[in-house]
Amino acid sequence: MAENRNETGRLTPPRANGTARRENGGSLPAPPRHIAIIMDGNGRWATKRGLPRTAGHKAGAETFRKIATYCKDLGVKYLTVYAFSTENWKRSETEVSAIMALLKKYLLEAVDTMERDHIRLHFFGDMSPIAPELRALARETDEITEHLSKDDFQANVCLNYGGRDEILRAARRFAANCAAGKRRPEELDEAVFSGYLDSAGIPDPELIIRPSGEQRLSNFLLWQSAYAEFYYTDTLWPDFDEAELDRAIAAYHARDRRFGGVKK
Ligand code: IPE
Ligand code: IPE
Ligand code: MG
Repeated sequence: MAENRNETGRLTPPRANGTARRENGGSLPAPPRHIAIIMDGNGRWATKRGLPRTAGHKAGAETFRKIATYCKDLGVKYLTVYAFSTENWKRSETEVSAIMALLKKYLLEAVDTMERDHIRLHFFGDMSPIAPELRALARETDEITEHLSKDDFQANVCLNYGGRDEILRAARRFAANCAAGKRRPEELDEAVFSGYLDSAGIPDPELIIRPSGEQRLSNFLLWQSAYAEFYYTDTLWPDFDEAELDRAIAAYHARDRRFGGVKK
């Protein structure tokens, strides 16, 4: 288990009974099993400082490392992050290349540290237009993930990901299986369809966080977000920290989740 980090108010790693604990005492319920984050606000963070937008992406990548470690320490099982959307190709070539270079740097580090740190890595999104070198690295991390225990913490990185595109790719594969006689249309239900999505086998996120003040999904996890709780904050992603995640989790615990039923 990772070491405690003792700044005030921060949660410590979960105890054997699965509950997290603040340094200043008092038990908290276990964190959500699956947290998803729209890592937004990198560009504005950099512009505010008179820096190029790419500096914001670099700072944002550091925040991802920090928050992934914290989620793992808290006992969160899955962290899904939106890194690059199917719409983000509209940005300048300089910006797109800088984001891809940061991803490559992260994956190069990951191939050396995933096993040691027990971090599984998985990608959501259509990898076909991604540069071959980056794709090869993603395949390598997938292979390492295969060797890690299913109980280990898993980070899902959404790269060239769009919720609509994911649903279309799933529908196309199901239709192809029907045409090949492997499936029948009447077999399609929510569970079968979920199995064709990039998130196959992964429970839906209980909590979706969007920093930077925007309150929209921007094509993130359209299927999986059906009953997620949303947490918005004005904090820009590079400034997002452990205390902010604690606040998001506390807000989540204060929600009354009914799933269409009635209040207990
Ligand atoms: C999120 O930050 C990162 C990506 C979309 C790749 P932005 O780059 O969207 O930052 P803002 O929203 O312009 O501040
Ligand atoms: C969503 O942020 C995509 C990622 C964070 C990767 P955007 O910045 O692209 O979304 P919009 O344009 O504000 O909706
Ligand atoms: Mg943005």
